[in-house]
Amino acid sequence: MADALLTVENLHTEFTRQEDVIYAVNGVSFSVAPGETLGIVGESGSGKSVSVLSVLGLLRGSGKVTQGSAKFEGTELLKLKRRQLEDIRGRDIGVIFQDPMTSLNPTMRIGDQIMEGMLTHHYASRKAAYNRTIDLLTEVGIPEPTSRFRNYPFEFSGGMRQRVMIAMAIACEPQLLIADEPTTALDVTVQMQVLALLQKLRQKSRMSVVIITHDFGVATNFCDRIMVMYAGKVMESAPLEEFLKRPAHPYTIGLKASIIEVGQSNRVLQPIPGTTQQLTEPPRACPFVDRCAFAQDACHEELPELRSIGSDHLVACLRAEEVMSHAG
Ligand SMILES: Nc1ncnc2c1ncn2[C@@H]1O[C@H](COP(=O)(O)OP(=O)(O)OP(=O)(O)O)[C@@H](O)[C@H]1O
Ligand code: SF4
Ligand SMILES: [Mg+2]
Repeated sequence: MADALLTVENLHTEFTRQEDVIYAVNGVSFSVAPGETLGIVGESGSGKSVSVLSVLGLLRGSGKVTQGSAKFEGTELLKLKRRQLEDIRGRDIGVIFQDPMTSLNPTMRIGDQIMEGMLTHHYASRKAAYNRTIDLLTEVGIPEPTSRFRNYPFEFSGGMRQRVMIAMAIACEPQLLIADEPTTALDVTVQMQVLALLQKLRQKSRMSVVIITHDFGVATNFCDRIMVMYAGKVMESAPLEEFLKRPAHPYTIGLKASIIEVGQSNRVLQPIPGTTQQLTEPPRACPFVDRCAFAQDACHEELPELRSIGSDHLVACLRAEEVMSHAG
């Protein structure tokens, strides 16, 4: 995509565990256009978090990017020094993680934590940062912001802490917000409120958003485009309407069918019989082959490339055309 804000190409990330190499991300490519919201879905362990952590330079433990490119506004993030990346992260790219308790400093007042990012990134003077913090607290729905400014994280509920995280992430008006399961730890009502807040902020500022979610409902209500991951690879990516009308990967179809089966009260992705496994070898055949109702001999021998099957619609399946006509 020529005018993409973020372009990730052929990203590979590995971990080492004793003798083993874990192939967590195996050639992931995607892009995010200005103002676009991309939803990344897939079962646990499919490499969603590791993909974005790799791009942001936030891999833990033995994690290492071994190949690929991640350009933000044309700047190669994977080659930046730590300080340079820290500069972009927090200023141009806001990040929200699942559990705010691990991301907030328990010994620092909420307001000071929100101000800190603005001061570090020279976004505002101390006075302007204070005023903006009060505005942000109001905007994310925290009542009595001037007194709440002085509270510590433990004095807030889970939903309120997540609102604080959102305020911190958007404080410097980033062009891109990356949210990894931002509502999973919250109860359903609070989830809805936090998503509505993200929706409002997105519309107001036209920032781009990448949201990782287990919840298919969140993906389909909130996103312009959906990308499905499996075994550290992109299985399918399409604009929402196309994704809903013409799914072309058996895994996507399985995910969607499971949603209909379990109903709206439990929209968490728990689909197709079988489980994902940690890959200790790079995939050489279709990683989904053991669970796929469409599998043929060739699927055991060939790694399907991500290829175009329609306008902005990409799929990694040897039999995508047949799968699509079967589903339609
Ligand atoms: N710090 C780590 N050390 C070793 N392996 C890791 C580490 N972090 C992730 N992995 C492995 O990388 C793979 C992808 O993990 P990742 O966290 O990206 O999955 P995910 O799709 O985000 O899953 P979830 O939905 O559960 O958050 C998994 O096999 C996981 O075990
Ligand atoms: S390539 Fe073969 S095994 Fe893989 S998803 Fe397509 S049909 Fe199924
Ligand atoms: Mg994750």
